[in-house]
Amino acid sequence: MNEQNNGRFSRLPGFYKLGLEERLEKLSEFIALTREEQYQLRHEALSPALADQMVENVVGVFGLPFGVAVNFQIQGRDYLIPMAVEESSVVAAASHVAKLVREHGRITAGSTDPIMIGQIQIVGTPDPEAARARILQARERILEIANEQDPVLKEVGGGARDIEVRVLQTVRGPMVIAHLLVDVRNAMGANAVNTMAEALSLFLEGLTGGKVLLRIVSNLADRRLARARLEVSPSAFDEHGWKGEEVVEGILDAYAFALADPYRAATHNKGVMNGIDALMIATGNDWRAVEAGAHAYAARNGRYEPLTKWSRAEDGMLVGEIEIPMSLGLIGGATKVHPVAKIALKILGVKSAQELGKVAAAVGLVQNLAALRSLVTEGIQKGHMVLHARNVAVSAGAAGEAAGQIANQMVREGRIGFDRAKQLLRHALRAAEREVQKLETRLEEPRIEPPKPDSTHEGEPKPPAEGS
Ligand code: MEV
Repeated sequence: MNEQNNGRFSRLPGFYKLGLEERLEKLSEFIALTREEQYQLRHEALSPALADQMVENVVGVFGLPFGVAVNFQIQGRDYLIPMAVEESSVVAAASHVAKLVREHGRITAGSTDPIMIGQIQIVGTPDPEAARARILQARERILEIANEQDPVLKEVGGGARDIEVRVLQTVRGPMVIAHLLVDVRNAMGANAVNTMAEALSLFLEGLTGGKVLLRIVSNLADRRLARARLEVSPSAFDEHGWKGEEVVEGILDAYAFALADPYRAATHNKGVMNGIDALMIATGNDWRAVEAGAHAYAARNGRYEPLTKWSRAEDGMLVGEIEIPMSLGLIGGATKVHPVAKIALKILGVKSAQELGKVAAAVGLVQNLAALRSLVTEGIQKGHMVLHARNVAVSAGAAGEAAGQIANQMVREGRIGFDRAKQLLRHALRAAEREVQKLETRLEEPRIEPPKPDSTHEGEPKPPAEGS
């Protein structure tokens, strides 16, 4: 086992060509999945009974495809990336571009400490500025009260670290807004932070003479950032007749477009989040929290901007960078309840929430590069269409091999639609019926018995001559 490699190798050539069962077997070998884990991946892993304990009014369970992106190497370590996503091409595109970067460049990553912000809103203070000063003076006592709420977090090296206060001018007048900064270690942290913020209400009301209203985590987790950077040689994009240098120039133009235009930046960032959300969902994380943080962070300069940056280094390498809030965890929530989320974390092999954040940032960056590369070359539809066509064929009633054949036919014709899929399915069914009829007719033809070797009866039919 290679420690440097996280005990894993993410290069699995031909993984995508295997059948589902073979793929699962290969993965099981790599990750040492137990029989029970394999069973859970093969079957409905989240039972309605378990789902009923997670949320209210449960009437069933909603499934999503669960795939594994291969080829990722981040900080010199190999990672297999579990992804839960319904959109075709996301897993394939991430795997392909991760391979190009692995072979022609590198990915590095880093992060801040896992600090979450708890907001406490205080209204109706007679003197907001004086209230602000009093809160800051009481810093030690405030941190003490907060930390009394979560001794376990303190034991594992986390806990409330600081308090910051602003006086905010609002349409309802000035408000005092305190930010409690909490190191939440491997938790997503919303529960810990909310509990601490609520516990401070009485003390802060006494201190300020105001009324404490909202006490809730902020999803703009800009003290909990993950960063990734990739460098890749333009020659990586010398593929399918494209010139790598031109592809890189195209990517830089695409980035400039996103930087200048929020309409484009929103779609650019959607491509980033394709990868990050898929990983968040697979690992049972609160992807809405990560989404909210990402988009708020994208607008931190007063205008909505791309989450990634693309440039060229002096040596000609294409350089991509991402910095993004990462409010996620390895403990709590669905991460420890959902059976597939537990398997996903085993596949990934990360040791801390910070490591998961770095991997997520790298996946978002690679996913963005994959989208830009397609957009500036053949366009996004070609790859999308094959899988999309398959989905259309399945929704029209096709299954198995027939779904693949109908999808390929629709792509060849450039006519992908439900009606066309139905038509092709009807053709396929009719052709199959004709085959069955032919077979039946052949079976019904009277069998001609060959004469018995000792038969001497005249007029008995002779066996048909070969070839007759
Ligand atoms: C589609 O899911 C994502 C893209 O639109 C992202 C982008 O345009 O950069 C392809």
